[in-house]
Amino acid sequence: NQIKIFSPATVANLSCGFDVLGCCLDNVGDEMIISENSLQEVRITSITGQDLPLETDKNVAGVAAKAFLADLGNSQGFDIEIDKKIKAGSGIGSSAASAAGAVFAINKLLGEPLSVSELIPFAMEGERLASGNAHADNVAPALLGGFSLVRSYEPLEVLSLPTPEELRVVVLHPLIEIKTKDSRAILRQSVSLKKAITQWGNLGALVSALYTSNYDLFGRSLQDEIVEPVRSILIPYFDELKKIAAENAALGFGISGSGPSVYAMCRGDENAEKVKSAIKEFYKSKAIDFELHLSGIN
Ligand code: HSE
Repeated sequence: NQIKIFSPATVANLSCGFDVLGCCLDNVGDEMIISENSLQEVRITSITGQDLPLETDKNVAGVAAKAFLADLGNSQGFDIEIDKKIKAGSGIGSSAASAAGAVFAINKLLGEPLSVSELIPFAMEGERLASGNAHADNVAPALLGGFSLVRSYEPLEVLSLPTPEELRVVVLHPLIEIKTKDSRAILRQSVSLKKAITQWGNLGALVSALYTSNYDLFGRSLQDEIVEPVRSILIPYFDELKKIAAENAALGFGISGSGPSVYAMCRGDENAEKVKSAIKEFYKSKAIDFELHLSGIN
């Protein structure tokens, strides 16, 4: 028995929702083939596209798969092949795609003993390996699609939020690698009450905007006074990019996950194309290597 899946990239945080908010891209992601083997063992049999460990216990897909099977008490073995299209350390949920894809595919092959949302904690084990912290804001949207909100980590409670139809996202990946572990280490551990007020105001409004397809409110809510000022220093020309996005009718702009990728939310394909080409011209003029994606959210 074998299954081939597309495992999507995700944009976590979305500025106002550090560690609790993320969304799923519909055309950027890895391909994975998962097959049953007769060895009672999870093996990573091949990885193409990226240089990542094949040892099961050092690979996020391997660790997530093992955590899931151990919980089920199932000794079936699986071979995992990953074609990485998402670069490691890009900030669009590379480790999450591998971990979520592995548990999703194995659950399918086993006849779906668990619901997709019940798979989130096992995929989070992959994130723990990758970054030292089991955040769910990439794995949840990778598994559930659309927007996900982590209402609580202990106990884990994840909500799916609606996606306004015309929403598009432009993702720029400057080709430098930032490890999530490192970009978490530079964050302050405390937040002033003033900043917290701004942040939860924005997050609440963003949720309302998704339910009402209020694109302008959605855009106004995409702000972050807590994490962005610290992490944006690592991203070449962050302030200039933000300005260019705003001048070209982006609804909002910020860091994707832990960076270095940045995202621009746009209403409709035309606006998204405009933002995409403006960003492209700018980075070209600065001679910076990059990748650019324009995606729907699904
Ligand atoms: N919320 C996590 C962080 C996402 O910002 O560290 C990592 O992709």
